[in-house]
Amino acid sequence: ATRAFSTSLAAQRDVKNITVFGAGLMGAGIAQVMAHKGGYNVTLADVSDKALQTGSSIISKSLTRIFKKSMADKSADEQAAAVKDIVGKIAFSKDAAQAVEKADLVVEAIIENVGIKQELFKFLDGKAPKECIFATNTSSLSVTDVASTVSAERKKVFGGFHAFNPVPQMKLVEIVRTKETTPDAFDTLTGVAKQMGKVPVSCVDSPGFIVNRLLVPYMLEAIRMVERGEASKEDVDTAMKLGAGYPMGPFELSDLVGLDTLSHIAKGWRETRTQTGEISAEAVKESALLEDLVKDGRTGKKSDKGGFYQ
Ligand code: 3HC
Repeated sequence: ATRAFSTSLAAQRDVKNITVFGAGLMGAGIAQVMAHKGGYNVTLADVSDKALQTGSSIISKSLTRIFKKSMADKSADEQAAAVKDIVGKIAFSKDAAQAVEKADLVVEAIIENVGIKQELFKFLDGKAPKECIFATNTSSLSVTDVASTVSAERKKVFGGFHAFNPVPQMKLVEIVRTKETTPDAFDTLTGVAKQMGKVPVSCVDSPGFIVNRLLVPYMLEAIRMVERGEASKEDVDTAMKLGAGYPMGPFELSDLVGLDTLSHIAKGWRETRTQTGEISAEAVKESALLEDLVKDGRTGKKSDKGGFYQ
């Protein structure tokens, strides 16, 4: 089956206008790289001015960091102008219907909740051009489930486009195909990832695709190891960095991903993927330490309270 999906990308369509839904860390990062590296006409859409301001500020901060290095020989004013130029090219919108009117591709990066994603896609299905490709940045839900509310025709051009945190820095995008995704749509998503300067990998619609399927059970087992008193979190992190060459240990990585996100993915998989036998119950067993930290508001890097680390 894999061979049916060409690697030559001969079938990929011309994409110019991309609309990204969700101005959080992932959505803003995807919009940033699409506009900056990909040269696409990008619209970033969300429900409130506050959310859009947050997105704009995430993008400005990241570009400032990038241009500080890439334009080190230029003045701070010139660097700031370059940031402004890219941010100025992105359209920010609260009007979902208008935002997809001319879209060739929609990428959704809103809250990780299947019902809310389905509702958004159902609405967009009636508003976007009929040939517009739909993609979700879900990291743990079934792409087939997320696509279940759109028309039969749209399901053929529906896939997963899963980027990684921090998006401007991480080179990977997982391109996910369902049983219905056409080679044409799949190749187009692959081509977009490449034009963004990313390295695409091909995944079927299985839980967590490639990266999270391996990373989530790994992070959870690291937490249980500390709960069992076998090692300190500092030693586990040092061990995995120096003994396995990972850039971050599992606790630093959990803080980056967000402890609430980690807990949410594990809970979702416990409820939907263990009975089906797709994931073993042992791999996603609840951890009291993780749940206590989340209840305390210690959700990781994004929280003032920190996570495993301050
Ligand atoms: N925007 C722009 N640049 C950024 C950035 C951002 N948001 N974040 C980091 N950078 C840049 C830094 O400026 C620096 O640039 P330089 O090399 O040119 O000086 C470079 O990235 C390295 O950053 P640091 O020196 O601060 O720190 P590190 O060398 O440790 O790199 C890291 C940071 C890239 C995050 C690295 O530690 C890493 O790869 N960690 C693992 C991250 C990971 O596994 N992410 C996946 C999480 S799972 C996920 O996202 C799936 C989700 O669905 C749950």
